[in-house]
Amino acid sequence: MVKVAPSILAADFLHLEDDILMLNGSADLLHFDVMDGSLVPNLSFGFPILDAVAPIATIPLDVHLMIINPDKYIERFAQAGASYISFHLEAADEAGKDVKEYVDLAKSCGVEAGIAIDPDVPVERLFPYIEDADFFLVMSVFAGFGGQKFIEESVDRIAALRAEMDRRSIVKEIEVDGGVSGANAGRLIKAGATMLVAGSSVFKAEDPARAIAELRG
Ligand code: DX5
Ligand code: ZN
Repeated sequence: MVKVAPSILAADFLHLEDDILMLNGSADLLHFDVMDGSLVPNLSFGFPILDAVAPIATIPLDVHLMIINPDKYIERFAQAGASYISFHLEAADEAGKDVKEYVDLAKSCGVEAGIAIDPDVPVERLFPYIEDADFFLVMSVFAGFGGQKFIEESVDRIAALRAEMDRRSIVKEIEVDGGVSGANAGRLIKAGATMLVAGSSVFKAEDPARAIAELRG
């Protein structure tokens, strides 16, 4: 069954508790977009928000690190209550490291380790890590901002990743993030996505719980 992970970035920060309580009863995961203004051209939030939310969340926390040197913070995010942590392959490139180092570190902290890629990174670059990582985040917009338009080619990229997993008889989660809505969820699930991140399409909906149910199909 597909998991829906609403992105807190699109929540109402003045009434964050209300939104979390609503999501506890309707979503599968809470997605946290952590941005550093370096790997991506925007800033968002970090530990204070996670620390505030973790005690009232009854569903797992999915932390998406859009930061350089994620290895500096993975352990702290795990301690703050994250169950899933993803970091970008581009961050490892920038640091001249093999992203497997981040995967091993996250796993040693007891969380599900995910490798994320932006739309301009060939999806084949994930293939060497299919056995190592727990999940893969295929961005369907360029990381940095909510509310962007879904990039259609993402469907084929997810299908290619799923086909490679099938070829090797490996089953791992594929997460998709950016511009996900009822208009593309069905195609994404069919292509092999198992975790749908959705910001605007959930929080801008008149009935967010219903929007979540619709995404799940
Ligand atoms: C973008 C973030 C996304 C974003 C999704 O950098 O990673 O999680 O919040 O928002 P929507 O669904 O509005 O594109
Ligand atoms: Zn995200």
